[in-house]
Amino acid sequence: MIQGVFEDMRSYKIAAIPADGIGREVIDAGLEVLAALAGHDGGFTLAAERFDWGSDYYKRHGVMMPENGRDLLKGFDAIYFGAVGAPDVPDHVTLWGLRLAICQPFDQYANVRPTRILPGIKSPLAGVGPAELDWVIVRENSEGEYAGQGGRSHRGLPEEVATEVAIFTRAGVTRIMRFAFETARARPRKQLTVVTKSNAQRHGMVMWDEIAAEVAADFPDVTWDKMLVDAMTMRMTLRPATLDTIVATNLHADILSDLAAALAGSLGIAPTANLNPERRFPSMFEPIHGSAFDITGKGIANPVATFWTACMMLEHLGERAAAARLMAAIEHVTADPALHTPDLGGHATTRQVTDAVIAAIRSMQ
Ligand code: IPM
Ligand code: MG
Repeated sequence: MIQGVFEDMRSYKIAAIPADGIGREVIDAGLEVLAALAGHDGGFTLAAERFDWGSDYYKRHGVMMPENGRDLLKGFDAIYFGAVGAPDVPDHVTLWGLRLAICQPFDQYANVRPTRILPGIKSPLAGVGPAELDWVIVRENSEGEYAGQGGRSHRGLPEEVATEVAIFTRAGVTRIMRFAFETARARPRKQLTVVTKSNAQRHGMVMWDEIAAEVAADFPDVTWDKMLVDAMTMRMTLRPATLDTIVATNLHADILSDLAAALAGSLGIAPTANLNPERRFPSMFEPIHGSAFDITGKGIANPVATFWTACMMLEHLGERAAAARLMAAIEHVTADPALHTPDLGGHATTRQVTDAVIAAIRSMQ
């Protein structure tokens, strides 16, 4: 339980689901940082409740979360999620049993992935710094290639068949396009790139393009263009400064966001928000990096992605000042190479980075 000191403060209930691998280490660090922000003069309190769902829970109970799990989450203002995935449980079981089991029924259809080069961090691209790479990827998060449609027949026989059907609905595409145009409009450059593959995929992707053009008519102040996903990987690498806000299907954005994170220095700093923009259900905030079993328990996971994720959560809750203060503290710490974890080529530990961010928060208050 994290509590502040004043009676008349705004208060929020956060469900913390650290889940697997380094998820536990980084969510612990994130909750400490949030407590430091709220605790002193943040003007708000956070009550965090932890849920021990994930692969260990699965090994004990045969399910990743209890049957009434979503009912338990409904009353929270936000979900702070670590990572899912374990070496000894199939990935599709962990993913569909927990993360997608929350994202999809809670209609968190807008997945937002900001990418910037933070101070002190080097892009692998020569001559590319913060001014050349400042993107927001909007990922369609409820349908497309992750719709879960398909099946397998004649298992194990030579004639075995499996289908994996991508679903695109007019309602689903329209709402993500509107969200992306609004995101682009709220940024200084007011520029959106719509990623597609309508040259080869002639049904869903062609409708995707048509709806983009229809929605664009309502946003005359936003400049937009269209880019085939394969060509997009080249543009991100060779001409990063020509991009600002990007919208793509579930799978395309999954792939492009890993590329974006690598170009910005490390997957260890990349945050994400799974939003239900209408706020009918809680939204969920998580680092992109995953459970990283190779470094689990070593105390060297980069907590920066989870801290940046906390900024996105605070913004969603309306705590803009606290979000800005946390982001400034993170940037103050990344600027010092002595505080870089091994994913950034340094030797710092999760503990050292966390302590430094907390000290920076305190020095700002
Ligand atoms: C992501 C991840 C997930 C995804 C994995 C863990 C299934 O890669 O959030 O980008 O593909 O959605
Ligand atoms: Mg991914």
